Amino acid sequence: MNVIICKDKEEMSLKAAALMAARIQAKPDLVLGLATGSTPIETYAKLADLYAQGELDFSQVTTFNLDEYEGLADDDVQSYHYFMETNLFSKVNLPKENIHFPNLDPAHYDQAIAEAGGIDLQLLGLGVNGHIAFIEPGDQLNDFTGLVTLTQQTIHVNSRFFEEEAEVPGRAYSMGIGSIMRAREILLLANGKSKAHAIGQMLNTPTITTQLPVSLIRLHPQATLILDEEAASEIR
Ligand code: F6R
Repeated sequence: MNVIICKDKEEMSLKAAALMAARIQAKPDLVLGLATGSTPIETYAKLADLYAQGELDFSQVTTFNLDEYEGLADDDVQSYHYFMETNLFSKVNLPKENIHFPNLDPAHYDQAIAEAGGIDLQLLGLGVNGHIAFIEPGDQLNDFTGLVTLTQQTIHVNSRFFEEEAEVPGRAYSMGIGSIMRAREILLLANGKSKAHAIGQMLNTPTITTQLPVSLIRLHPQATLILDEEAASEIR
């Protein structure tokens, strides 16, 4: 596992965008797994800039998003469809038919990923509680994509994007741990003090536990973590 520590979110985003751009340039029909949330916003902006400068072409790229809330329309401003459209898809030449979200046909999402050739590069953010996608800490984790219940902590943390906590959907469609681990390469981004504890738990001991889903990433043969100094501050 490569761990890269950057001085701030700007540097983290630059490095992440550079890595993603290099993979698309090397394989124009790359299959990309994508994350939403506050972490990758600047990374997506930098990818859009590279496209605007003529350095990136998304015309053959295929995307599979990690997750989507249950019950939100695609054009709902809180939906992850809307997030992706606003932050990336509307700014690049990615064909609509190449874009996939797990809420449409969750039972066949992993099959669709396999039929696309498997995910080449999976981008991940990190929940304060150690979740990746909406794979919440628990005694057991799902291998495949499905409908999952969010923890109260995740609902609370994500309520910052909603007017009130009661509006946050309690369930979401999420890739499973296997859906993520089958990706050929993983790029996990984490910035800010709130992520420091989970990163410390993940890296300070060799323990792998479903109670800290991100710890499973230690098993992946081709994983890179790009952190800012705050997120890295509890690494011993
Ligand atoms: C979103 C996702 C989540 C987020 C995580 C961190 O698609 O998969 O696991 O990456 O909750 O969210 P932010 O970046 O808002 O701190």
